[in-house]
Amino acid sequence: MKIITSIAEMKRVSGGLKKYSRSVSFIPTMGKLHEGHIKLIEEGKKYGEAIVSIFVNPMQFAPDEDYDSYPRDYERDIEILKNLGIKYLFYPTADIVENSATFVINPEYSDRLCGLFRTDHFRGVLTIVMKLFCIITPNFAFFGLKDYQQYVLIKKAAEDFFLDVKVIPVKTVREKCGLAMSSRNAYFNDYDRGIAGNFYKALKETVDLFNAGEKLGENLVFFAIKKLIKNGFKVDYVKITDKDLNIKEQSVRNGDIMLSAVEFKGVRLIDNIFFETLLKK
Ligand code: PAF
Repeated sequence: MKIITSIAEMKRVSGGLKKYSRSVSFIPTMGKLHEGHIKLIEEGKKYGEAIVSIFVNPMQFAPDEDYDSYPRDYERDIEILKNLGIKYLFYPTADIVENSATFVINPEYSDRLCGLFRTDHFRGVLTIVMKLFCIITPNFAFFGLKDYQQYVLIKKAAEDFFLDVKVIPVKTVREKCGLAMSSRNAYFNDYDRGIAGNFYKALKETVDLFNAGEKLGENLVFFAIKKLIKNGFKVDYVKITDKDLNIKEQSVRNGDIMLSAVEFKGVRLIDNIFFETLLKK
């Protein structure tokens, strides 16, 4: 596997692949790879030569967040990528963000949901992802649905800048207990990780209530918050939106999504679930 740290070389390699008619799939990560990343990479491989990046982006962390302690395991990540048959890892240095005078923002959709609690987070995410898109110019890019707001914002930014990249969402991978895979799950011991599975369980029970006939958004949100608090979570928010992140408080329909962020044992978790009536066969 070629580990590329230089922006100029990454441009050359990616341009070369495309010139010789290989589509480029891009999977940006912050490392500490887990099953969720592996799924993104496996999807990416189906569409073309998969280029993975690892960069813990300081721009998307607030000063009081866990940038310094964010889980990192470079050696293990390299082994995982080699075993997956990845040929190119982009591992940029801090210059990629240092001295940057230009930022990418979406004021309308960045400042709701997670954005209300993590000021400038999505500005940091959109800026690094657009920089990476400019360097790699991928044909396809892959993002996990656990970070649904991030996926929608990146897709919109790529469209707004007329980039020739198709942004592809990939289903959330979960631990046995239901907890969505995340690098931050490394903060939990096995016992707490099991209990954290109650986060998704509360979301699923809310969809069960929807399927049983409750369609009023505010009642569904109230139900979910009650369950979460009872299970020991500190709730940042529970909101229902349509697929484009427009908040819905009244009538909820199939295809709408419930998004939530909570804190458990000092770890911030996010997750979401789509409302879908399970059709009886
Ligand atoms: O989802 C992540 O891991 C990060 O937000 C991303 C997309 C790699 C940008 O730093």
